[in-house]
Amino acid sequence: MKILLIGSGGREHALAVALKRDPALTELHVAPGNPGIAEIAPTYPLSGIDNDSIVALAQKLAVDLVVIGPELPLVNGVADELKKVGIPCFGPSKAAAQLEGSKDFAKKVMSDAGVPTAKSFTCTNQAEIEKALDHFGAPYVVKHDGLAAGKGVVVTDDRALALEHALQSSQVVIEEFLDGPEVSLFGISDGTHVIAMQPAQDFKRAFDGDQGPNTGGMGAYSPLPWAPSDIIEQTLSEVLNPTIKEMAARGTPFVGLLYAGLALTTRGTRVIEFNARFGDPETEVLLPRLKTPLATLLYNAATGGLTNEMDLEWTQDSAVTVVLASAGYPTSPVIGEPITGIDPIPGSFVFHAGTSLKDGVLHSSGGRVLAVTGTGADLTEARDSAYRSLSRITLRGGHYRSDIALNASIAEKGN
Ligand code: AMP
Ligand code: GLY
Repeated sequence: MKILLIGSGGREHALAVALKRDPALTELHVAPGNPGIAEIAPTYPLSGIDNDSIVALAQKLAVDLVVIGPELPLVNGVADELKKVGIPCFGPSKAAAQLEGSKDFAKKVMSDAGVPTAKSFTCTNQAEIEKALDHFGAPYVVKHDGLAAGKGVVVTDDRALALEHALQSSQVVIEEFLDGPEVSLFGISDGTHVIAMQPAQDFKRAFDGDQGPNTGGMGAYSPLPWAPSDIIEQTLSEVLNPTIKEMAARGTPFVGLLYAGLALTTRGTRVIEFNARFGDPETEVLLPRLKTPLATLLYNAATGGLTNEMDLEWTQDSAVTVVLASAGYPTSPVIGEPITGIDPIPGSFVFHAGTSLKDGVLHSSGGRVLAVTGTGADLTEARDSAYRSLSRITLRGGHYRSDIALNASIAEKGN
């Protein structure tokens, strides 16, 4: 099987490594890729991630499957364009990608499907916004409706700040605040059936102790020793299956990865958000643990070949990933700094997220530079492995959180 993978981050590096482990894979091509990916697969520059260049490359390489990493091409309808030329795509159609592309659309689907989520109002003017803010009270949760690359959501006790953020967008969703821990749980769907992956937890704030601004994700771990034992079954029956069913009933089946961001509140599980693609950095902890051959799995999903009885196989290991970010990330990342010391200890992996080669020397080229994943028999060992590999790396001004999976590892040891 020949696969073209689209994307250039840590998620795609982890996908590339896992796809290559599948004996059914004969060729892996990646566009645009990054220097880490280029060590294991041919990469191709893309002039912008636009539909035409992706379709043209897929045709030129005569691949059997295209796997789309990031959300933007999906929301732009690349899966529809690939379908027109007869190339299967792992990733939803433009219509189905609206589950990520529009918070208002996602709310409507959840409402029709009976999926539990935060109560919300969609507002288009100041009077509606103020009414909604006062209806729910603090803490205020304000979400811009469209794709916002992680900058669209503000959670604050400051009503003036909430109002200011709301007024920056022509359509906003204002919703009730959800307490309780967050869990990311991914379903792989062929449009009819859905298979759940294991849960992971993502650390969204920039600094230790969940301080500082929201980021794309500073680290993650899996599995979650503290999570209810039926979390996968429950999410399948309350969230993933009803959503997949609803999307099919609307004539816009969801094929690809349905990312459910959940809050485990005192009143039960609620969906915080849907995404239409693999999460980053959750993918960097899930895929190193996945034993099921990934290329075959994604091909079956893209071509209607799943059944509800299929189960994924996982190693017994725990995995922890820690993101090394550029100085100034997320506000104003300083890029172009040399990176040295990538020499992971056995059982750990360094996934490139924002790197490029300048005269043959590795440099930072993005806010999140590397995702360093450690694996081990438990979270303590996995953390140790990740942080030891990370401590060998130098990047001027680089920063990372020192508390990824720390509380969970302490609680696990205490059990
Ligand atoms: P989203 O882009 O919807 O995932 O929101 C980004 C982050 O904002 C989430 O991961 C949560 O930490 C927080 N958030 C979003 N919605 C809510 C909510 N209703 N209650 C509390 N926190 C939220
Ligand atoms: N880990 C958050 C995201 O992928 O959106």
